[in-house]
Amino acid sequence: MSDLKKEVKKYYGGIASKVKQESESSCGCSSASCCSSGNSEIYDLEYLVELPKEAINVSLGCANPLVFGELKPGETVLDLGSGGGIDVLIASKYVGSTGKVYGLDMTDEMLSLANANKQKMGVENVEFLRGYIEEIPLAKDEIDVILSNCVINLCEDKEKALSEAYRVLKPGGRLAIADIVILKDIPEKIRKDAQMWVGCIAGALPIEEYKNTLLKVGFKDIEINPINIYTKDTIEGILKNKNLQEVYSKLDIEMVDSAFAGALVKGIK
Ligand SMILES: C[S@@+](CC[C@H](N)C(=O)[O-])C[C@H]1O[C@@H](n2cnc3c(N)ncnc32)[C@H](O)[C@@H]1O
Repeated sequence: MSDLKKEVKKYYGGIASKVKQESESSCGCSSASCCSSGNSEIYDLEYLVELPKEAINVSLGCANPLVFGELKPGETVLDLGSGGGIDVLIASKYVGSTGKVYGLDMTDEMLSLANANKQKMGVENVEFLRGYIEEIPLAKDEIDVILSNCVINLCEDKEKALSEAYRVLKPGGRLAIADIVILKDIPEKIRKDAQMWVGCIAGALPIEEYKNTLLKVGFKDIEINPINIYTKDTIEGILKNKNLQEVYSKLDIEMVDSAFAGALVKGIK
């Protein structure tokens, strides 16, 4: 495993352990955040109904991929880098008892939190898998919809991860992901900083490069829409979050003002 992947695993394992500990010892009202400054702005309340508060508190996404996933009863869904399970648990409500939702994650602490959240919600159409999104442990043509929230940017081999997503989708299957994209040039020193990678910044792609990678692995009808622009105010908001202070306080806020955005990424197999 690469050093960068080890760092990513360690960082997200640490967040999962902290959230678990806090929910066991107190009110469970801590709020973790990676790519967003808070969850209320990325999920409308209707999506969060029935979800355990621990799943909401460990949400680390950058936009809500469910808004354009258009999930239908009976569909099979896979969430790449499912973390504490928020998008998997939301999706489970839409596909119903005749559908199935898989969450795939490489970090044991996240999987344990996700399974505890699944139990709290009492859903049976959900399964969390341990593994890497660059080597999805599922057969070809098995999935109707791929979801993912703020994870592809963390992958070193994005082409491999997206070609695996393409492989497991059924023909006509939909890619409906949220991810960070780059909107303007950023200094090389940020690009090379491992901590900035872990914080979902350094590994993000410019929109054109993202589109070209999706095209290269076979997707058609690609759309990438930046919806949450990371202005100075957004970044200052993230700086108040105890989980990310260390990473984001290193940023020259003027330099990265509006350089990144949480985007919705669509494609069809
Ligand atoms: C920023 S968090 C997002 C979690 C979740 N999608 C959400 O919205 O709350 C990134 C997650 O992706 C997982 N992850 C990162 N790279 C991965 C990879 N190559 N394979 C599998 N999981 C990965 C991490 O363990 C972590 O749980």
